[in-house]
Amino acid sequence: MDSIEKGQKMHSERIMIVDDEKSLRWSLTERLKREGYDVKGAEDGKSAMNLLKDESFDLIMLDQCLPDMDGMDILRHTKEEYPDLLVIIITAYGSVDSAVDFMKVGAYDYFKKPVNFDKLVITINNALETTKLRREIKELKEKLQHEYGETRMVGKSRCMQDVFDTVAKIAKTGASTILITGESGTGKSLLARMIHENSDRASGPFMQIICSSVPETLLESELMGYEKGAFTDAKNSKKGLLELADGGTLFLDEVGDMPLTLQAKILYFLEERSFKRVGGLKDINVDVRVIAATNQELKPAIQEKRFREDLYYRLNIINLNLAPLRERKEEIPILADMLIEEFNKKFRKDVKSISRSALNVLMQYNWPGNIRELRNCIERAMLLGNKKEIVIEDLPLDLRDDKCLLRKQRMCALPPEGIDFYALEKDLVKQALDLCSSNRTHAARLLGMTRDQICYRIEKYDLEDGYKEYAPGNKEYKKELEEEPLAMAKTI
Ligand SMILES: Nc1ncnc2c1ncn2[C@@H]1O[C@H](COP(=O)(O)OP(=O)(O)OP(=O)(O)O)[C@@H](O)[C@H]1O
Ligand SMILES: [Mg+2]
Repeated sequence: MDSIEKGQKMHSERIMIVDDEKSLRWSLTERLKREGYDVKGAEDGKSAMNLLKDESFDLIMLDQCLPDMDGMDILRHTKEEYPDLLVIIITAYGSVDSAVDFMKVGAYDYFKKPVNFDKLVITINNALETTKLRREIKELKEKLQHEYGETRMVGKSRCMQDVFDTVAKIAKTGASTILITGESGTGKSLLARMIHENSDRASGPFMQIICSSVPETLLESELMGYEKGAFTDAKNSKKGLLELADGGTLFLDEVGDMPLTLQAKILYFLEERSFKRVGGLKDINVDVRVIAATNQELKPAIQEKRFREDLYYRLNIINLNLAPLRERKEEIPILADMLIEEFNKKFRKDVKSISRSALNVLMQYNWPGNIRELRNCIERAMLLGNKKEIVIEDLPLDLRDDKCLLRKQRMCALPPEGIDFYALEKDLVKQALDLCSSNRTHAARLLGMTRDQICYRIEKYDLEDGYKEYAPGNKEYKKELEEEPLAMAKTI
């Protein structure tokens, strides 16, 4: 590497030049070393094969005609043994026919002798850059597969069933824009992946970006890419996520934090299906489904002029809202079972279940961090506990404190002068309904009674109107929740 010019970028890629012509081998090696590549030469087919066995390369420049072997045989061998290795053919004869044969077998490109070094360097740079991007996409896919792949999306509550019904309808249609809303940890990212994986784009890329975690100045070039010279560091042009997601899905997470200038560009893209790279003049057309997600209310952001109203309406054509876990507590037992199964595999444990009392604690807790918090809680319990069953002691203290508090409140509720039993019973029924977002089955479980028994008391104390049970399209229920979110939180 001693011949790298000052300020020259180092490449991590390795190139092999296979040519029996010593002077060509030497001059090409020197030129590519100057470009910052790690280069090795081989004078015949046999030494090339040996080098390939011992070391790894990203690209080989292969003479079509070698003293001991036919270039085509080497090409076939590399395609079988090293499918990711790029091969560029150097041909002395300039026969287009044979070059085309090489391309058919998988050569990336071919060059006639005398080789135009400048052109060759550009081709090599581009070939390696494309391969690097492909590899990054593959790694990203594997990483996401690792993070979410094992996870089934659980949702037996009515509100989740509604979400799944809509997903089933839209996944295979051309619906190009979807907005997922919900508090942090409710499953927005998991749902975005699920939509992609159930769509006819599943074999295409799934690219994602968290708008709040990328500095404003970088976000545009990350999304749209840039042309060479667009800014000081833009030594080469670069594709953005929109281009990389072509044929697949782009997931814009925390879209509420996207800067206004970029919002205008995304809106333009959603309407025209084309965009320009930073510093570019050309319109680039891509076929991308955009899924946006946010855990903040966009309406106030619109009023405060932080979010464009027109973009909101464009994104909101299909809105999937994921309810907080406290509003679908009936999912806790099934989620807990699924998580136990998952962590049994991960930690090689053999936990069979969760005790009734521990499950009760989970059912009473408010879950501000939603399913993510539940997941962490089960993970911790499985790591700390050493029984076949998760017991109360394995749960974090703050969850248990909530339970103790409730028990103490109940124990202390009997003052010496006696109590109004019916007022207390009514209050307990109301508390339980508050905790369970009016879900009768849950509230009954909390009070240790059957659904019929609680329904009887709801009627007896005339609580029907104040505690409507959720049913799709029950607008009054939603209105109550919107008006009184704090009141609900306070009772817990
Ligand atoms: N319905 C579900 N079934 C099973 N696991 C779920 C479900 N919903 C969420 N999870 C799990 O809960 C965790 C949090 O989910 P996710 O990351 O999708 O939440 P989010 O809404 O995107 O959160 P944030 O707003 O913080 O990005 C993940 O580990 C996910 O696998
Ligand atoms: Mg997320």
